[in-house]
Amino acid sequence: MSPLIEVTDLVVRYGDHTAVDRVSFTVDEGETLALIGESGCGKSSTALAALALRRPDSGSVRFAGQELTGLREKQLRPLRAQFQPVFQDPYGSLGPRTTIGDAIAEPLRVHRRPLEGRVAELMDLVGLDTSYADRLPHELSGGQCQRAGIARALALGPRLLVLDEPVSALDPSVRAGILNLLTELQERLGLGYLFICHDMALVRHAAHRVAVMSDGRIVETGPVRELFTEPRHPYTRELLDIEAGAHP
Ligand SMILES: Nc1ncnc2c1ncn2[C@@H]1O[C@H](COP(=O)(O)OP(=O)(O)OP(=O)(O)O)[C@@H](O)[C@H]1O
Ligand SMILES: [Mg+2]
Repeated sequence: MSPLIEVTDLVVRYGDHTAVDRVSFTVDEGETLALIGESGCGKSSTALAALALRRPDSGSVRFAGQELTGLREKQLRPLRAQFQPVFQDPYGSLGPRTTIGDAIAEPLRVHRRPLEGRVAELMDLVGLDTSYADRLPHELSGGQCQRAGIARALALGPRLLVLDEPVSALDPSVRAGILNLLTELQERLGLGYLFICHDMALVRHAAHRVAVMSDGRIVETGPVRELFTEPRHPYTRELLDIEAGAHP
């Protein structure tokens, strides 16, 4: 069976600067791959190309065996339902003047899917009281907003979520709740996650496998336990030292 997503030798350039340099990875159904690295190493650029929101300069992105690079937007549109983003800043990504209910309904409208009952069902799925449907993002807490962001990402029944630092902007006290929700949704729906973060402590609990990125390249990849017990690359050891320093 093909992986949900298979990225091979991905290159993203901004002018002369190579932000993503021959990056390869796969994510299977029900699996979380953490992509971890310091600020500016190319994680979000990788995410955008993996979501076909940015055309890579070279390399291949296959979703469930189908090559996405080179497809026109019209051909991509029906496929987009199957891989959806969750962003770091839930307030910004929901839109300040759109109610929570409308934000969750938006992908359903765009893809001409039935709305009846679906928004309430999605809110329920992410543990958000349906009375929040009429509220604006600023009337919710960061954690509640991120739940709405996840509900919207799930609206079309995707198989893969690309989560770009989904808890980094949240108060540490609500992070665990969101991470637990993601784990529960993964188990219930068999979702694959590409989970982008810069914090090793998060990876330990949230991921099955890890890809460590530095300066545009993946320098080490492996199962979480292996990476934590036998890090091979000096940069991975550095990240682990930082984690140990933060949690003595
Ligand atoms: N639209 C753009 N135009 C020009 N350069 C960009 C653009 N987006 C990103 N870059 C540069 O590409 C490199 C990688 O950026 P990217 O946002 O992918 O990193 P990141 O790992 O997601 O960082 P962060 O942890 O801060 O979110 C950085 O040097 C950044 O300045
Ligand atoms: Mg980023």
